[in-house]
Amino acid sequence: MSGASHPVFLDVDTGVDDAMALAYLLASPEADLVGIASTAGNVGVDDVCRNNLALLELCGTTGIPVSRGSATPLVAPLRTAEDTHGPRGLGYARLPEPTTTLTDHDAAQAWVRAAHDHPGELIGIATGPLTNLALALRAEPALPRLLKRLVIMGGAFDYRGNTTPVAEWNVSVDPESAAETFSVWSRSGTEHLPIVLGLNLTEHAEMTPELLRRLAEAAGSTSTQMSVSDVRGTASTASNPLIRVLEDAMRFYFEFHHDQGEGYLAHVHDPLAAAVALDTTLVRYRSAPVDVELTGTLTRGMTIADWSGHWGREPNALIGVEVDPAVFFDRFIARVGAFAAALDHS
Ligand code: BDR
Ligand code: CA
Repeated sequence: MSGASHPVFLDVDTGVDDAMALAYLLASPEADLVGIASTAGNVGVDDVCRNNLALLELCGTTGIPVSRGSATPLVAPLRTAEDTHGPRGLGYARLPEPTTTLTDHDAAQAWVRAAHDHPGELIGIATGPLTNLALALRAEPALPRLLKRLVIMGGAFDYRGNTTPVAEWNVSVDPESAAETFSVWSRSGTEHLPIVLGLNLTEHAEMTPELLRRLAEAAGSTSTQMSVSDVRGTASTASNPLIRVLEDAMRFYFEFHHDQGEGYLAHVHDPLAAAVALDTTLVRYRSAPVDVELTGTLTRGMTIADWSGHWGREPNALIGVEVDPAVFFDRFIARVGAFAAALDHS
């Protein structure tokens, strides 16, 4: 992809790794972030809104509109994941209350407005449940044709789930919205298929204390040198304010993954999705018809790719199947490190 700048719209349930995705986009010269939709998911929608506004303020970029999304999924009652992302969504990080406000219009309208403002140009990224996107598609069925590209972090393809044995979190929270999104896309007549990055791909992106140390170094910051033997919740001592927040957020995420038996590391699903949205060559894909199980008593929220054509349907997704995590992390560290360094000197 060329170095030209593209309008980007981000739909998030911030969320530790959503925050990392936001930082990556702000740090990327080819992304012009034109709007943020806040989706209920990892925490309730008001906490997500607050996290998004507070992160933008921390990053010195307050002109980007943030919109509030639906407080609940389309059909299911909301479930949240404070055990994974901390009581308010950013792990142990505590940001000052934001002084900026939300847009008057809601997140679904924000999707539609952004697409109309940038017809054929907008890159959409969804790293939370797809509630707002499904509502936007109801309001504007031409949305798939108006977007340049859509990247979804969601699902698990031929791979175990992280919320049920077979379902991934974003799809599991609002399976109806995911099913509706895939279905509307199939009927939209657009040539470009949504890029779907499931756990089978994103769990290759393992953030570690050593990678965080490299990030701090790239920012010209001191770092906390985290270790599994640290007292839980030990506060970051990093000299850079953004690195401090990311370290405090990541520590909670490390502890959660450790408790799950995955090691003192964390899967950073959402920043990988953001990176792929700006450079699709980071990943290898296979196309397939995809659908979401809505009725299974044990399998609700499961994403199914019909690789062998049993359903006789056309492919409606490009599914990420291979990534080199080292290339992604080198880029993440270079960009977010330089961005954090510049913040310190501004
Ligand atoms: C997804 O679920 C959320 O907890 C993360 O932010 C990510 O978007 C991974 O299943
Ligand atoms: Ca997320």
